This record gives sequence, C-alpha cells and structure tokens, in this order.
Amino acid sequence: MYDKEQTKSLQQKTKEWLLSINSINIKENVADGIEDLRYVLRFHEYRYYVQTNPLISDFEYDSLYKLLEKLETENPALITEDSPTQRVGKGLINSFPKVQHLVPMLSLENSYNAADLLDWDRKARQLSDLPEIEYCVEPKFDGASISLIYDNDQLNRSATRGDGVVGDEITLNTRQIKSVPLTAKFSSYGIDQIEIRGEVLINKNNFKKYNDKLIEEGIPPFANPRNSAAGSLRIKDTVEVSRRNLEAFLYHVSYISTTNNRQPPTHSGMLDMLWNLGFRSPKKEMIVVKGIDKVIHHVEEFENKRDTLPYEIDGMVVKVNDLHLQERLGMTSHHPRWAIAFKFKARQATSKLLNVGFQVGRTGAVTPVAKIAAVLVGGVTVTSISIHNEEYIKEKNLMLGDTILIERSGDVIPQIVKSFVELRNGGETAIQFPTHCPVCNDNLFKPEGEAVWRCININCAAQVVERVIHFVSKDAMDIKSFGEANVRKFYDLGFLKDVPGIYELNFEAVGQIDGFGKKSLENLQAAIGSSKTQPLHRLIYGLGIRYVGETTAKILANVVDHLLEFTNFSEEQLQQAEDVGIKVAGSIYRFFHDEKNLQMLQKLEQLGISLKNQKKQSNVNDTPFAGQTFLFTGTLSQLKRSSAEEKVEENGGKIVSGVSSKLNYLVVGDDAGSKLEKAKKIQTIKIISEEDFIKMLPT
Ligand code: IVH
Repeated sequence: MYDKEQTKSLQQKTKEWLLSINSINIKENVADGIEDLRYVLRFHEYRYYVQTNPLISDFEYDSLYKLLEKLETENPALITEDSPTQRVGKGLINSFPKVQHLVPMLSLENSYNAADLLDWDRKARQLSDLPEIEYCVEPKFDGASISLIYDNDQLNRSATRGDGVVGDEITLNTRQIKSVPLTAKFSSYGIDQIEIRGEVLINKNNFKKYNDKLIEEGIPPFANPRNSAAGSLRIKDTVEVSRRNLEAFLYHVSYISTTNNRQPPTHSGMLDMLWNLGFRSPKKEMIVVKGIDKVIHHVEEFENKRDTLPYEIDGMVVKVNDLHLQERLGMTSHHPRWAIAFKFKARQATSKLLNVGFQVGRTGAVTPVAKIAAVLVGGVTVTSISIHNEEYIKEKNLMLGDTILIERSGDVIPQIVKSFVELRNGGETAIQFPTHCPVCNDNLFKPEGEAVWRCININCAAQVVERVIHFVSKDAMDIKSFGEANVRKFYDLGFLKDVPGIYELNFEAVGQIDGFGKKSLENLQAAIGSSKTQPLHRLIYGLGIRYVGETTAKILANVVDHLLEFTNFSEEQLQQAEDVGIKVAGSIYRFFHDEKNLQMLQKLEQLGISLKNQKKQSNVNDTPFAGQTFLFTGTLSQLKRSSAEEKVEENGGKIVSGVSSKLNYLVVGDDAGSKLEKAKKIQTIKIISEEDFIKMLPT
C-alpha cells in the first residue's frame, strides 16, 4: 500500500503536522492542506487497523484528527464523504433496507478430518484432470459475514449475509469499522465496480472488556465474540457501533466489473491486491501450497495456535488458488466446489439442565446458577453455568430437564446458547425463583427497571463474605495469602465480621487454626500491613461500589485528595468525571451518603489505611508519561513489577503487552530475553534500565 519512500515522506509530513498543531495557519491553501492531512490520517489508520503496527501514539493520532475536525468545521464546503472524520456522527439509523447481493453469498462445505480433505481433493483433481492442485489456506474467521461494494473507488454499499441472496443494508455501520477503507484505488487495477466479502469481528480483548462492563451493569454478557459482532452490526446508533471497536478481514472477491484484464489470476493474488489497496485481507495469515498433504499438515498445526490469536477462528478455509480453475469447478446449489472449510474441534456441546441454585453476591444480587450434567467443552469440564437473571431464563426459554447447547470459547466463561425445545418430553418443569434470600432468608427486592432480585439485608452473611473476598482480591487491595478460602474460614470461625475486621484480625487465634504455620501467619500479617498504603484507586475499587469497575475507580481516584471529599460531591459534580454517567454518579452518591459506609471508611482510616491520594493527577495529558507506552522485561531489582507498572499508569502512561513499534520504552531488568532482542530491531523504542526508569519518575 505504502512503499518505503511514501512511508518516509508520510512520517515527515506527520512530524510537520504535529509541530504545527498550535500554530496552524493554512488559510491560503486550505483545500490542499485538508487533503494532505487526510492523506496523513488515512496512512496512520492503515498502520494501526490494517497492519496493526502503528507509528504514532494514540494521543498524537487524536491530536491530528481533532485538527482535521477543526479545519473542516471552519470550512464545511470542503468536507468529503471519504474523510476520516465522516465515519462517525451520522447518528441514528431508522431501518436496514433489504438489498440483493450482486452474487449470492453461498456457504462452504465442511470437513472435520484429514480423510474428508483427501476425499475432497480427490474429487477436485478428478474434475479438473490435474495430478496436483495449488491451494490457498487461510483462517476461517468466526464473526459475522458482510459484503462491500465499491463503485469508482468509493465504498458505496455494505450488507449482511441475510439469506445469502438478500441481506440488510448496513453501510453506515460498516463505515464505523476503521479497517474498512472508505476509498480505495481499484481504478489502478482497471476495476470500476467490485463486490468483496469478509468477516466482521470483535477481538478477544475488546470482547472481554465489553462483557465485563455488561456484567458490571447487571446485563447478561454475550455468549461469544461472534454473537457480539453480529449484534453490533445491527445497532441503530452509529456512535455506539463505533465504540464497539469492530474489525474486518476481507477474504473474497465475488464480482468485478472491469474494462481490461489487469486483475490477478489467483486467489492469493486477489488477497495481495486487497492488501495493497489498504484492506485487511488475510495476506499474512494465508499460505499457498501444492497438494493436499501440505494443506493437512498446515491446518492441523494451525489448530494448536488457535488460542494465541487475538481473535476467534473456528477452522481453516482451503481454496483452489487458480481463479480459472475455480470457475471450471463451479458450484453446487449450496456451496462452491473450489473451497472447503476445515472445522476445528467444537467448543459447543449439548448437556442437560439438572437443577438451578441461587448465589448471593456482594451487592446482594441473587444469581441463578444452572447445574448441568458434566460435559467437556473447549478442553474444560463444565458442571455449572451462571444464567444471570429471571429475564434471561425467559428469553432463553429454559426449563429444568431441558437439553441445552453450551459454548465455551477461549477464555470466555461458559454460556448457554439455547435450549432444544423440540426435544422436550413433557417432564420438564419451570425454574422457580426464590422469594426470600437463600442465605439469610430476608426479603428479596427488585428495583424498578432492573432485572436482578437483591437481598436487602446488607449484613447478610453471603454479602459480607463476598465483599471481603472482593476487597482483598488481586485487582483491589491485593492482600496476598488472604484468598477466598481464608475469608470464608475466618468468617465461619467468627474472626472476621466485616471489611475493617481484616485489619483487626487476632493473629494469635488464627495461629491456632490447623494448617496455619508460623511462616504463613507472618506472610499474612505482612500482606495485610503493606496493603494499608495501596494506591487510592485500589481501595475505591475494593469497596465494591456498584458500577465502579477498575477504570472508573482510577478516574475517581484522580478527582480528590482524600476519599471522604466525595461526601461533599453532588451527583452533577460526580458526572463531570470522565465516563461517569447518571447511573454511575447516582450509585457513587448513594454510597458516600450512607452512614454505615462512612463509619466503615472512618474505621479503616483509624486502623491506618490510607484514604489519601498520594499522587493526584490533575490532567492526564499534563502528566510526565502522557501518551507514552512502557513494557518491563527481565527481573527488576528495586521495584516490584506490579508497582512499577502502577507508577507508569499513575503518571499517565500505558502498559502494553508486547514489543511493537507502538512501544515507547522497554525497561530492562536482569536476564532479559527475546523482548529485548526484538526491541533492538525497532529503532523508535527507547531501551532503558530500571535506574533510568526510576530517575524519570517525578519526585
Ligand atoms: S470464503 C463462496 N473465506 O465462513 C465462499 N469464508 O461457512 C465465500 N468465513 O459464509 C466464503 N472465514 O462467513 C471464506 N477465510 C474465509 C472465511 C470465510 C470465515 C465464513 C463466511 C462464510 C462461512 C461459510
């Protein structure tokens, strides 16, 4: 797409634009200036979303984007449909009109083992009268399929698969997918119209973040990234679609209108063409091999890599590489004869819904948990699955005794996909929801507009224990050796009644418990002691305020010098904080106006727990590491890895998980290995020692 020369010149242009942000004055040639800035932004979108190898920080990209927005607002006549700013902002969609695909979107024949592939290859060779066929093998992306039509280099229409012949027109939503170019130079290949097929995905990381947010809000999560991608394409609010961070792989050209014969003669050539025009095609993920034996070897190997990929795949697709041969082989009424899917081991299984138990969480939420006949899915034996709430049970039409389909993909928690209503024999019974708390027998209450029943007794044993478990957990106060089992044990023995009780634990009594040696007692004592000075955001998260996850806790911690200042905040003031909406603000307000909570916080302070913000950040962009990314490798000698990472975040920086050109600083401890070697090859990464890092920290 961009050769070395162009990349170099674009880097130079980027630098110039970044330097000119505050002193910009392009009044004389504003049209050229705007087009130049778009050219720069498209290049960085391509580096980030297609090549996944960005050259500038998110902050720098955002600054350039805002500059373009500003210039376009000042010169509205110069706004074009394909400007990077014109993806978002179309607001609400009324409906998705039905549209016909230029060529029907067929599905693929499936194969499950080497014998199936050998059989398929034999037939293809017979039909083509060739001793050996060249194949292109690529991942089978597990998302929602879409089609794109470009007319005269502009994205003109996008649609879902629908029934294969007619789909829903979703162009405005597809425009939110940053790896889909709004404009692409097909004309340089003599193409005036083209229809492309691909798959829309949500990567595992974004999927997890999104599901965690849903769970936090008491909304049932999506069963898998596929459902969530498909659902996201049908949202009628483009701003929300944009927030979902969808991605797309484009893997098939289904129709071309051209005035010459300059198009590639092979499928892999088409993938190269798409890649060169700025699309994320599986160019890097595919291989071209001769003969089915190499195909079999490759697909079997690739299955082992499945969990290391950032997105879900459910198999591989084997395609005849020569497009003329593809045409000769043709299709049946269901699928092409020139391609076959090789399906990986299923992550779905059927089981029986035996019983439903009810668990009480730290906020009193009563969650139904399905006990199911033990079944192996995705390498793990599953015996129970959360079924969230009453509405979910209704929506999925679940009854005791049902045969159910369950799924566990990657590290996603198991979910019930559906029940097989057609297999019922009349012996199934309805799931009864309790009217009283299964732990303390107090009344249950369902606030208006919510789906969850709650136990109203905040001294309910289940709630207290769950609150303490959350408080000591790794992402909260991180009190090591004080795990779930110990909390339950201490509570049952009457050693611990509430959160402040952690700091009043009678170690002599604990020492009498079987299995508590001197060493483990010392460790526990030390861990409790050192938790007293944990950063404020950990304490806030540990308090388990509804809707306040780790991210919100970090934001809140930066708003005050002392936690109790929140008692003086109105709901409106709380809403000034980033990402804090009406619901979250209401919850925080109620927490800090509840006498029992205030007493608990005062008690914690008396016991020596710091409620102060040791390092208040006024504005993330003013902080020393704003926009900078860090990665630690090897053994650090002065700082603990986790506290070094925390220091980066406290100062506005970000921790990244791997070495790429997105990384600004690699901090190297003893015995650093492959990360250091890799970083040495990327000139933009600054490689520094632990001492250098400590010197960079504000005093
Ligand atoms: S080729 C005419 N390639 O799998 C055939 N499909 O079960 C065009 N899929 O509907 C499809 N990854 O949604 C092709 N690399 C890939 C794919 C792929 C995922 C999906 C696609 C298709 C389904 C068939």
